[in-house]
Amino acid sequence: MADFTQRVFSGVQPSGNLHLGNYLGAVRRWVALQDSYPCIFCVVDLHAITVYQDPSALETATREVAAAYLAAGIDAKAHIVFNQSRVPEHAELAWLFNCVVRLGWLNRMTQFKDKAGKDREAASAGLYVYPALMAADILAYRATHVPVGEDQKQHLELTRDIAAKFNHDYAARIAERGLGVPMTMGEQEVQGFFPLTEPLIEGPATRVMSLRDGTKKMSKSDPSDLSRINLTDDEDQISKKIRKAKTDPDGLPSELAGLAGRPEADNLVGIYAALAGRSREAVLAEFGGRQFSEFKPALADLAVASLSPVSARMREHLADPAGIDAVLRDGAERARAIAAETIAQTKAIMGLLND
Ligand code: AMP
Ligand code: TRP
Repeated sequence: MADFTQRVFSGVQPSGNLHLGNYLGAVRRWVALQDSYPCIFCVVDLHAITVYQDPSALETATREVAAAYLAAGIDAKAHIVFNQSRVPEHAELAWLFNCVVRLGWLNRMTQFKDKAGKDREAASAGLYVYPALMAADILAYRATHVPVGEDQKQHLELTRDIAAKFNHDYAARIAERGLGVPMTMGEQEVQGFFPLTEPLIEGPATRVMSLRDGTKKMSKSDPSDLSRINLTDDEDQISKKIRKAKTDPDGLPSELAGLAGRPEADNLVGIYAALAGRSREAVLAEFGGRQFSEFKPALADLAVASLSPVSARMREHLADPAGIDAVLRDGAERARAIAAETIAQTKAIMGLLND
């Protein structure tokens, strides 16, 4: 990336309980990035309402996600934490991007196909243009790095496609107004207004699977609560869910190759590795040859030891909803100052008279 100011942006939807997949695939990795980049972490409530949300449950879930960020160790003073709907520039830029994104691109999005299910006609228009809003979230801050789980890879490719098309379509105006940053596009040196954002999808837990079915992603919407560990689960629930996790009858292999075709075993090893901050190889070097009857209690202890301090801190924050709201309000004000400038420049580039 050329000379764009380095910045991290990411978000979680307040559409239900936060689970171990959100924590290991996203939030916990954000904590580590805070030392290297200025960061913006958003509770993406406008994305949540692309499917119907009960209004008071949405308020609760928004505060819960914010509490989880703080409990995990996000520093809301040094960085920015806010909820998306408090910064209207997200919706405004999303409209501009709706006019850049092509129907063909949206039609390829697998998350829309999964979420809309068989009855596409009954899905909201918001669910369809969801990826343009996500691009707006990121590009309102011209963010250069976005840490997410594996399932968001396609949306981030679309974000790059939108940025590239905008930079290309408006190249002359961007250069004329001196708003571009030199960047390479393929072989060419061009002046781009929006960066081509890098996805950060790394580590042993970019795709945590259901504890009941190793071929399905751990998700907020799975009807079985045994399929996921929620950040609000207590020690007994965590231990019980790991004890009951589906496995196969074999013991653990000593090498990665031995996990091939064993999705449940692979998932539990990945979870252990992520929680312990070790590689899967190192976990197998220790547990290879042992049975699940030994591995599961070790995993349960590790999960309880790592997650219970987070859920305890989450409960403390949730006991003070006004405190959470103050954090979100302050974050929104600081976010808005950045986003407003980007949107004013974007409009000027596009020929939309303003100011
Ligand atoms: P969502 O709950 O869809 O808003 O997701 C919030 C973040 O958690 C995104 O970065 C997702 O990629 C990540 N995430 C969601 N589910 C999982 C999972 N099962 N494994 C790893 N990361 C996940
Ligand atoms: N679509 C993401 C998810 O479901 C949430 C999200 C919305 C997001 N806007 C974002 C993630 C911007 C990263 C950056 O997980």
